[in-house]
This record gives sequence, C-alpha cells and structure tokens, in this order.
Amino acid sequence: MSNHATLAPSVLCVYGSPRIRGNTDLLLDAFAAGVEAAGGTAQRVYLRNLTISPCREIYACEREGRCALNDDMQPLYDALRTTDAIALASPIMFYNVSAQTKAFLDRCQAFWCIKYRRGEPVTDHPLALRKGVFLSVGGSKGAKLFDGARLTVKYFLETVDAVLWNTLTYRTIDARGDIAQHPSALIEARALGGELVEAVRRELAEVSRDRP
Ligand SMILES: Cc1cc2nc3c(=O)[nH]c(=O)nc-3n(C[C@H](O)[C@H](O)[C@H](O)COP(=O)(O)O)c2cc1C
Repeated sequence: MSNHATLAPSVLCVYGSPRIRGNTDLLLDAFAAGVEAAGGTAQRVYLRNLTISPCREIYACEREGRCALNDDMQPLYDALRTTDAIALASPIMFYNVSAQTKAFLDRCQAFWCIKYRRGEPVTDHPLALRKGVFLSVGGSKGAKLFDGARLTVKYFLETVDAVLWNTLTYRTIDARGDIAQHPSALIEARALGGELVEAVRRELAEVSRDRP
C-alpha cells in the first residue's frame, strides 16, 4: 500500500511475457517509468522468473481461505492485496494472455473463493475499487485480437476489488523490439503511468479526507 502520508501511490507492475526485453516488457518499462516520474512507486514482478503452478482445482482456498500451493504465488497474494493499483502486461498468445500470465490469474481463484464462497473481504485497502491497466501487443491485425484477453483481465481485476480503468493495445507488433519502432506506443505508455498515479493520488486524498 502507498505511503498515505506522502501520497506516493504504489503500482504492482506484472510482466507477463516469457520473452526478455520483448515488446510488452518495453511497454511496461515505459509505463513504470511514468509511474515513478509522477512520484509513484512501481513494484516490478517478472512472471517468467517465478515458479507459479497452474491452479490444481483442489479448493483448499474455499475450505481454508488460503491457496495450499506453496510456490512463488504466495508473496504475490499479499502484493495484490496491498497495492494501490495494478498494471498487467502480456502478449497475445492464441487470442488470450500468455501461459505464465494465465497461471498467475488462475491462482487468483483463491481470491474468488474468499470473496464469493466464503463471503470474506479480499483486501482491507481504503479504496473500494482500485484501478487496473492492461497493456498488450499481438503480431496480427485481427479485429478481435484483444477481446478474449481483455475479458480475462477484467474479471481477474474484479476478483481483487479492482476495475479495468484503462487499456493500451497494439496490433502488428511481432518481432522483439517492434514496439520501439511504433510512433507513439512508448510515449503513450509512459503518459498513462503518470495519469494513473495522479488519479490514484486524488482518490487516496479523498478517502483520507472523508475518514473520521
Ligand atoms: C505461443 C505464441 C502464440 C501467439 N499467438 C498470437 C495470436 O493469437 N495472435 C497474434 O496476433 N499474435 C500471436 N503471437 C505473437 C505475439 O503476440 C507477438 O510476437 C508479440 O509481439 C510478443 O510480445 P512479447 O515480445 O512481449 O513477448 C503469438 C506468439 C507466440 C509465441
């Protein structure tokens, strides 16, 4: 969670591509730089470096309120609970997010069970609905290229008490580094990082004013 005294919002930046220095890495780097330039903090998480097993559907989370798989997802549950905002970047792979990203999202079924089956809060964050951003690229021109992933991310965010506040998506970006040749993508990503921090800072100031 942010340092509410100085209103430096924290943004969990989740890198979902298996490719090092690939297109979504560059996009999220630019976004995170925008976050930091605006006075926020960016916590960078590289899913490709973590061991996150797919969900095994054993529903220990429903029974115990906690996922039973003890791998690198465990600290991310806390990070998701406490962060002021979330930025998720993934390339499109077969019309959805990457497998690394999907495993991470599926493990958030633990939050789904806590919230909808156990009727317990998933976070005690002061913002009732936090902001989420989805950054993505795909190699083709397909009109519906981002539709599947956008829905996946929207419902993941809903599960962790967040909304899909903004999306940046770019078609025909395929080879590593193509995004750097795009006329505006990295500029837009950096600007959006700054806008997110400003928006979250305003909301945090409002809730701290309204508190008794
Ligand atoms: C396994 C795999 C599946 C892919 N599926 C799609 C797809 O369905 N549609 C598409 O437009 N591009 C697809 N691509 C291309 C990637 O989206 C594209 O290369 C992207 O720039 C990779 O981003 P990255 O450098 O951040 O990993 C696929 C690439 C791979 C490796």
